Amino acid sequence: MAGNKMICVCKQVDYITIRKAMIQGARTVEEIKQMTGAGTGCGRCVGAIEEILASVCGCKKTSLADVVDAVKNGADTVEKVGEVTGAGTACGRCKALIENVIELKK
Ligand code: FES
Ligand code: FES
Repeated sequence: MAGNKMICVCKQVDYITIRKAMIQGARTVEEIKQMTGAGTGCGRCVGAIEEILASVCGCKKTSLADVVDAVKNGADTVEKVGEVTGAGTACGRCKALIENVIELKK
């Protein structure tokens, strides 16, 4: 995804803030709500938050589920996850999130 974007208008939470929460381990809408406040107003942005949560790498269209699977199958470095899923092999912006998935195994 190119650039930043306001995801939750009620609470003024943007895309990058949600990605940062994911890098700190947030994996559910509830955790995003707690960490950022996004989704705690009208609730209209919850679908967009779910979409962001489901994706790790926008460049390679790699889902969180694919990265978690790769990690559970033994990919224990960002490079290995990249070899298996493609995630992180283009712009590299998702590497911090991949590291967090490796760390938490989820
Ligand atoms: S737009 Fe996010 S709670 Fe209203
Ligand atoms: S978002 Fe660009 S390589 Fe993953």
